[in-house]
Parts: sequence; structure tokens; C-alpha cells
Amino acid sequence: MGAGDIIRLPYVYRVPLCRPFWSGRTYAALARCIGAGRVVYGPDIARLEARLAAFLGTPAAIACNSGRAALELALRATGVDAGDEVVVPTFCCASIIPPILAVGAVPVLADVGAGLTLTPETVEAALSSRTRAVVVAHLFGNPAPIEAIEALCRARGLVVVDDAAQALGAEVEGRRLGTFGDAGIVSFGNGKVCFGTGGGVLVSRERAVLEQARAVRFAPPAFASTLTRAAGVTVWRRWRRWSLPLQVALRRMLPAEAATAYAGRSMANLDATVASSLLDTLDANLAARRARVDEYRALLGDEVSWGLVPHAAGSACLTQVVSFHGGEHAALAVVKTLRDHGYEVDRSYRPLHLQSAYERHARGALPNAARAWPSLVELPCEPTVRMEDVRRIAEAVRAAAGT
Ligand SMILES: Cc1ncc(COP(=O)(O)O)c(C=O)c1O
Repeated sequence: MGAGDIIRLPYVYRVPLCRPFWSGRTYAALARCIGAGRVVYGPDIARLEARLAAFLGTPAAIACNSGRAALELALRATGVDAGDEVVVPTFCCASIIPPILAVGAVPVLADVGAGLTLTPETVEAALSSRTRAVVVAHLFGNPAPIEAIEALCRARGLVVVDDAAQALGAEVEGRRLGTFGDAGIVSFGNGKVCFGTGGGVLVSRERAVLEQARAVRFAPPAFASTLTRAAGVTVWRRWRRWSLPLQVALRRMLPAEAATAYAGRSMANLDATVASSLLDTLDANLAARRARVDEYRALLGDEVSWGLVPHAAGSACLTQVVSFHGGEHAALAVVKTLRDHGYEVDRSYRPLHLQSAYERHARGALPNAARAWPSLVELPCEPTVRMEDVRRIAEAVRAAAGT
């Protein structure tokens, strides 16, 4: 049986979705950590906090068990309170909602601009007298116009949270994302630039905010769930090429868990060890992602049938989003063709205001996001995707979109 036969087996993909970029050092660090009995407590947490603070240029960093927990910490540390409104983009991962609800605040969904992120105009349209904060998420590693949004918010006395969960290492004019606004976060969770065994980190340039964040007491991580999560990421995500068929079978037998649910805890040493090993390769990771974005642009460009959502200078290039002018029908055809060729690609986010669980958080129609999302497909940019595969993906896109 050749490789061609293997990829025709159901759920066995040549390039699985979001495969973490781990080196032998990541596995070695994991093994050392478990062998030394340092799963929950250990020196790697403080080490990771110090490294990230130095890398991002903040006085300190505070690690917790997820980006959602870091977001909750950011809201608590900046004084967001019960009943306050917090503006977030409707075109985003649903994970940003639970931390807002956890502090008793009210999420308010705002529309996005052509770059699929918040803009000063879409933020302004979502403000009310009860607005207390705006969470600016940089989707796909691509910087949102954070400086302009910050200027608008400063003039109104609003808190800005710089959500760089998807954009670790990205920068705007030499300043790293995560460090704008009053507080910021980065994540080592599922599908992120540094996809580790989980974890999130709060940063801020404001010492007072950092002090407030330190005063929030999260429970320590649990030994068993830390190990289970690390094993799950390793087997189901890192080894996804071979484990996906089993996962699909198990999923059919077991009840589904809400992907956005979380319990805020401090970071486990094991997660910090893995995250640190990923910081060692961050430069190579970013360079590879940017090279893949350049290659997609060279091979696909903007055509009559599609346009590539551009990455601004300094983007961390998490994925390359393509908008198909033939709408949802064309996007679905591209996804199917790519999957048939062994590439597990997906469409992009369905705007939150179009999902029954979140529609009550929108004040009115949010037309840009509603119009854009059906036509979108995300092409992979992980360093684990070889350039040869990028070329095959581009060819398959051309074939599917009929040019
Ligand atoms: C923009 C954004 N913010 C926050 C989060 C939460 O991060 P985590 O998955 O580490 O909890 C995510 C997760 O996908 C995200 O995309």
C-alpha cells in the first residue's frame, strides 16, 4: 500500500489540522518533567514568566492554565465588574465569552472591518454608557488596528485588553502584541502559534495592573488533569495523522464537552516546560509561517474567483484566510477538494451573533462579519506543513475554484 492509498482512508490526512510544531526537545522536556515529579509545581513556571516578560518587554508576566483564564485575570485586574459591558468582535473564537461571563460582565458583540478584526468604527458602534472595556483580538496572528482603537478607548476612559492569544510574536512598529492597552494575553493552547499542552499568560506594562492580577488567587492545577491534558494534546493533536480515526470513533460513543468551558487555575510546571521549549523555536516558527504566507500569495495572489486576506507587516501568520467570491458554495467545494487530497482544512469562524448561544449579545445586525464568513477558508501555515504541501494546496485550490 503506498502513501496515495493511505491518505484515502477516512480521517487519515497527509496534513492534519493545526499540528503542533514540537521538536525532540519538547518531548525530552516533557519526559524530564514527569520523570522528576515536577508536573504541578516546579521552577519552569517562574522561568517561563521571566522569559515572556523579557520577550514582550513588560515588567512581569503571570502564567495560568489557559488563555481564557488569562483573559479573566486581565478583566479582574483592570477593574471590570459585574454588569459592565465588554465589547468583543463577533468574528472570533467563542472562547472569549466565558471569561467575561465569569466576572459577571456582559459581552457585547461588535462587527469587524475588511481585515476581519475590530476597527475604531466597529468598536464605536458597539459602545454604550455601560461599556467598560474592549477586548481586541488579533485573529490569524494578524494585528488589528490596536493603536487607533486604543486612542478611541483612552478618550472615552475605557479599558483595552490586547488579546494576542493567536498572535504570539507578532508586532506593530517594533512593539509586540499583547503589550498594548491596559493588559494583554498570550496563549499556548489549541491551534495557537506556540501550540503546547495549554496555558495562558497575562502581561501588562502597568505595574498596578500586574499587582492587581497577582492578588487574584487561582487554585493550583490538578496533577491528574494536567497529565491527561498533556497526553491528550500529544496523542490527539501532535499524532493526529494516525489518531484521528480513533478519535472520531470515540467521539461518536462519548458525550461532547463544551470546548469553551474552563476553570481558571494557575499554570502547571509541565505546561510551562512545554511552552518554554516552544519559545526556543519561536523565531524559526514565525519565519516558517511567514514564508508560507508569502508562498500562498505568490501562488494564488488575488484572482477573479478569490482574494487572500492580507497579513500586515509583523503578523505572526497563524493561518492564511482566503475569501471565495463564489460564496459558501465555492468555499465548501474548496474544503472538500482539499480534504479529498489529504489536507484537513476548515472554514473559518461562524460569527458569534449568528450562533444561538450568543445572538443575545449583539445589539443589531453586524453585516460585515455576516457577509464575509460563508466565503472563507483557512489555509494552513504551520511549520509542520512542508512547502511542497503548500504548493499542492495552492494547486488544489485552483482546481476546485475552477481557474
Ligand atoms: C482570540 C482568542 N482569545 C482567547 C482564546 C482563549 O485561549 P485558550 O484556548 O488558551 O483558553 C482564544 C482561543 O482560541 C482565542 O482565539
